[in-house]
Amino acid sequence: MSASELVAAARRARRHARAAYSGFKVGAALETADGTIVTGCNIENATYGLTVCAERVAIVADTADPTPPCGACRQILWEFGGDLEVILANLRRETGRHQLKDLLPLPFDSRLLS
Ligand code: THU
Repeated sequence: MSASELVAAARRARRHARAAYSGFKVGAALETADGTIVTGCNIENATYGLTVCAERVAIVADTADPTPPCGACRQILWEFGGDLEVILANLRRETGRHQLKDLLPLPFDSRLLS
């Protein structure tokens, strides 16, 4: 992929940025050694510190055991989804369902900032 195509991909990714607190939207695009294009955008959070930069938004996991969301991810899920249902599964089967409020009691969110 040419540099200008990579820049165009980053510009498209930037449209998905969530920058409610800084207003500063960022997009990124990386080309891996095998030619795969990975894009990302910044996703801000009411805690500020859990904001993720465009460059590290996209992750992919392939593990035998179920991977529950880490504490930081629970906070970010709360910000964007509220009390959503978290369905855990490994590569073979579903391994559990949890409401996010049970995984993240007493959440901090933007309501506390006003
Ligand atoms: N930001 C990025 O996404 N990448 C950078 O390299 C610098 C900063 C984001 C983080 C935050 O959402 C906003 O830009 C302002 O710092």
